[in-house]
Amino acid sequence: MSKDSLSITDNRTGKTYEVVIENGTIKALDLRQIKVGDGDFGLMTYDPAFTNTASCKSRITFIDGDRGVLTYRGYPIEQLAERSDYLETAYLILHGELPTRPQYESFVHSITHHTLVHENIKELMGGFRYDAHPMGMLMSTVAALSTFYPEAKHIHDAQNRGDQIFRLIAKIPTLAAFAYRHSVGMPYAYPDNDLSYCGNFLQMMFKMGGRYKVNPVLERALEVLFILHADHEQNCSTSAMRGVGSSEVDPYSSIAAAIAALYGPLHGGANEQVLHMLHEIGSKDKIPGFIKEVKTSGGEVRLMGFGHRVYKNYDPRAKIIKRMADQVFEVTGRNSLLDIALELERIALEDDYFVKRKLYPNVDFYSGLIYQAMGFPLDMFPVLFAIPRTSGWLAQWDEMLEDKEQKIARPRQVYLGAQRRDYVPLAARS
Ligand code: CMC
Repeated sequence: MSKDSLSITDNRTGKTYEVVIENGTIKALDLRQIKVGDGDFGLMTYDPAFTNTASCKSRITFIDGDRGVLTYRGYPIEQLAERSDYLETAYLILHGELPTRPQYESFVHSITHHTLVHENIKELMGGFRYDAHPMGMLMSTVAALSTFYPEAKHIHDAQNRGDQIFRLIAKIPTLAAFAYRHSVGMPYAYPDNDLSYCGNFLQMMFKMGGRYKVNPVLERALEVLFILHADHEQNCSTSAMRGVGSSEVDPYSSIAAAIAALYGPLHGGANEQVLHMLHEIGSKDKIPGFIKEVKTSGGEVRLMGFGHRVYKNYDPRAKIIKRMADQVFEVTGRNSLLDIALELERIALEDDYFVKRKLYPNVDFYSGLIYQAMGFPLDMFPVLFAIPRTSGWLAQWDEMLEDKEQKIARPRQVYLGAQRRDYVPLAARS
């Protein structure tokens, strides 16, 4: 009997099976041989929300949730946030290695020169109501891009995939800024190729008339926030990207699906919810009452920006953001909600309810305060998550397509519904 195996005895039949253990996992399909008789389908695993099922092998992002560790391609997030910029990190995530200078310059050039969108996209944007949520506009216009680049459906052509990857990373900030400007009735600001990725996004968002002067502190803060949000292994939106992409649809359609997943309040919508929550609490003296409400609501009222499926420790991204907040507030002025957030964190981290469940601040707890201080409206927060996550989604999509073990995603179910029965005509039903 191999040491790297699992012996399973089926008490229904008394039979023992040996299943190979590889990389700390067993293959779910190996359980199918475990049957009570010939007509039996064989054993399956039941894992709602995939809390203990690896759906792929990946070499991109590693999280140790118990120790609060996050690395991209082996590089600690703290070092990347300190020393890298968003496009270099995107290159690393996509290609597996940090770029050489010529590789970096060529990558930045390609992204910078794909930032314009077809003029018809503006008309599409114009069709939305003045109060449309920018995440809905982003999702729809990204999906629409698939009709502008029909060749993107040739997803097995690596060169073609590379072209769409440039386009998507380049155009997402343009679409995001256009969505914002539509919602405030301002004329669209076109990309400025002389600026950095983040500097250009800031000018497309906030330029009024004349030349927009990018504040270097805010530009750097955005770079860091984008680095922190670039990838996070198999979360809900990345799973959507891989799941939809596994049908071999073009990447624009898959990214639209990933954006839809990110939009939800339990995922990328949480940073917006944190601000709503802080506004509602309103002052420090109301915090104990709010905490009590969370604890007694049976899970209905949540402390937004707290808790994580994988981190059972302080989210390393939240630590970096919290440290950075002071630098941003020196330029923008202090966000008055910060004091409520700090006190909320202090009280929660001492409270048995949160301690027992290992609920710590996640990336969304402090990011919204910075975004708000920088002048972004609340409904742009999930959009600010989607922009950098695009590189992660694309890297995961590319990895999936190169993985010979992958095929169209298709989970099983445990059927508990009615057994076969005959149709009853309407007149005969009581
Ligand atoms: N406030 C209060 N209670 C909570 C919270 C919270 N934020 N998060 C989890 N719990 C409780 C939950 O009620 C449950 O308690 P019990 O065992 O008594 O039923 C226990 O903790 C475990 O929670 P869970 O819902 O089973 O945990 P999960 O891994 O399914 O959920 C989560 C993870 C992130 C959805 C959840 O923690 C949550 O809803 N947090 C608030 C939303 C949020 O901040 N989301 C951003 C996540 S980080 C950004 C991203 O990557 O998307």
